[in-house]
Amino acid sequence: MKQQTEKKNIMDYDTVRLDEEASAVVILDQTRLPGVIEEISLRSAEELYEAIYLLKVRGAPAIGVAAAFGIYVLAKQIEALDPDAFYREFTRLKEYLESARPTAVNLSWALNRMQRVAFSHRGKATVDVVAHLKEEAVAIWQEDIDVCKKIGEYGLSLVKPGDGILTHCNAGQLATSRYGTATAPIYLGQERGYHFRVFADETRPLLQGARLTAYELMASGVDVTLICDNMSGAVMKNGWVDAVFVGCDRVAANGDTANKIGTSVVAAVAKYYGIPVYVCAPTSTIDPDTPDGAAIRIEQRPAEEVTEMWYRRRMAPEGVKVYNPAFDVTDHALIAGIVTEYGIARAPYEISLAKLKGMAE
Ligand code: MRU
Repeated sequence: MKQQTEKKNIMDYDTVRLDEEASAVVILDQTRLPGVIEEISLRSAEELYEAIYLLKVRGAPAIGVAAAFGIYVLAKQIEALDPDAFYREFTRLKEYLESARPTAVNLSWALNRMQRVAFSHRGKATVDVVAHLKEEAVAIWQEDIDVCKKIGEYGLSLVKPGDGILTHCNAGQLATSRYGTATAPIYLGQERGYHFRVFADETRPLLQGARLTAYELMASGVDVTLICDNMSGAVMKNGWVDAVFVGCDRVAANGDTANKIGTSVVAAVAKYYGIPVYVCAPTSTIDPDTPDGAAIRIEQRPAEEVTEMWYRRRMAPEGVKVYNPAFDVTDHALIAGIVTEYGIARAPYEISLAKLKGMAE
């Protein structure tokens, strides 16, 4: 079900929310932004899968929250004759949602958390198991808001009023439940009169920087300038950037981080100009089971995203070979710090990340 509403400012909307009465997950359809603000309700496993795969809901934390609400809504619908059948169907649906996108660890992290809750109440009436699932999904959503705010406080300690900040992709409110990760220091700074000058990379091929980051920062009154991806070096050389803040989809144990394709280029150029690169990551994005960046599975996406999407006419020759990885890995040597809700991890990352991850458990 689609709904275009009257609220004016994009910041007044929830990126993801639960509509208990309608038994649906409601998301802002991000493929239509910034032109059209439309909320859509997702009820079936196929609708949830498609919304995640097509990036109607996107950004690591928001995907996790949508999946948590999603598996709760689906669990309510399971018509099982006995508990074994309930748990079999629950596991099938969980694995189906998990397969929608492979790189952001928050998807499996949230679904595993939901599965642990379901199985820990095995033996109880299904209605009770489902009630516990709702509690957990709401907790995941609420924690995301708190975590982003804390990341914002730590991030803000790394910059000073008037600084120039460059960001890539969208790690903003639209990628989380509120505040964003990389944008959280910017929003807190905005509330406290820091007057940052923000540069947003447009972020080819899906333009999350242009469509989403520039949009939400403008809607919040932040001084934001949109640049093409190939302009970040010029902007840095001009001396306009004091720090780079980006989000991430998975942090390996050694501090290598996967984020939107192009992040590693920004980080390498920033290193050349002596500009610190800070990766903002909830501890849920740290994956101790992935030893380094080489072990991170990078999602490959359809060629059309590169050759024709967003263009009035296809702009690439028919039949051209296309390489379209959705993410790349930034080597830990290029990262000045990984900002989490428990503090800032610095090299050597094996030690600092393990310590912060331990604090979350
Ligand atoms: O493909 P997307 O739009 O889901 O990619 C999003 C990013 O790469 C974000 O930077 C990342 O998920 C962090 S969001 C707080």
